[in-house]
Amino acid sequence: MSQSPQSSPKASDAFNHVGVEVDHVSIQFGSNKIVTDVTFSVKPGEVFVLMGASGAGKSVLLRAIVGLIEPTSGKVLIDGMDAANPQTHQKIRTALVFQAGALFNSLSVYDNLAFYPREHRLMSEKRIREKVMDTLKILSLEKAAGKHPSELSGGMKKRVAIARALVMEPQLLLYDEPTSELDPIMAATISEIIAALREQYSVTSIVVSHDRELAYSIGGRVAILHQGDLRTVESPSSIQNNQDPVVKEFLNPEINLKNPRFRKIQQS
Ligand SMILES: Nc1ncnc2c1ncn2[C@@H]1O[C@H](COP(=O)(O)OP(=O)(O)OP(=O)(O)O)[C@@H](O)[C@H]1O
Ligand SMILES: [Mg+2]
Repeated sequence: MSQSPQSSPKASDAFNHVGVEVDHVSIQFGSNKIVTDVTFSVKPGEVFVLMGASGAGKSVLLRAIVGLIEPTSGKVLIDGMDAANPQTHQKIRTALVFQAGALFNSLSVYDNLAFYPREHRLMSEKRIREKVMDTLKILSLEKAAGKHPSELSGGMKKRVAIARALVMEPQLLLYDEPTSELDPIMAATISEIIAALREQYSVTSIVVSHDRELAYSIGGRVAILHQGDLRTVESPSSIQNNQDPVVKEFLNPEINLKNPRFRKIQQS
């Protein structure tokens, strides 16, 4: 990898630009409805940003897209194939950067990154070394190569999780809060990496984030999920003028010291 990931051996094949269809998806756990009849599509090569308050169902929806959860009703299609079918993920390289990293704690940072290409015999050990070290460099992690996850700060773990996904050279890349816990410069670097992957390799990306800077600067479209309902999907410029009180409040919350929100929460 130089400043951006190298194309994979499959880079020119027909699967390189994959679209995602979320078709009337509802997800419930027991009697608890988390996601309600959500429909949207992500175009091949698009960066789609999903925002929404804590507990809105964003991570649950991402898990359904990568096939870790089967929707209670409705379907997710990746390049026309059912995301709940494991074979779909053998055909399409999909990577999810988990909100909490989900690193292998017993492996060094280097071995965490090398795991996928080794398992899938994607390249020689020499090429893996070059790729892993280049990726670590982009994310300012070269010195952490020999460390274990328990020796890293929260922001470092987050960057290792992103680096591990980039090494996979995915066709569909999902990020759950990629810039939380990062300082502003590293957050900007992550936004640039997402944009570069789209521009150079048309990697279809779905980014769950609370980061408005990121959403406005890299999102082709921005969606807001509110208590499991999809409130809107629109361009970054038009969403900033959206008059729906829920969308307005979410994007521009006012701090009201006379009538603090937390008192309302305590009363309810
Ligand atoms: N496996 C599960 N079993 C039961 N309930 C779950 C499960 N996973 C998530 N939930 C519930 O689903 C709801 C939505 O969770 P989710 O993690 O999707 O929220 P989120 O929008 O990602 O929030 P945050 O911004 O805080 O990460 C929460 O009430 C959570 O407790
Ligand atoms: Mg979440």
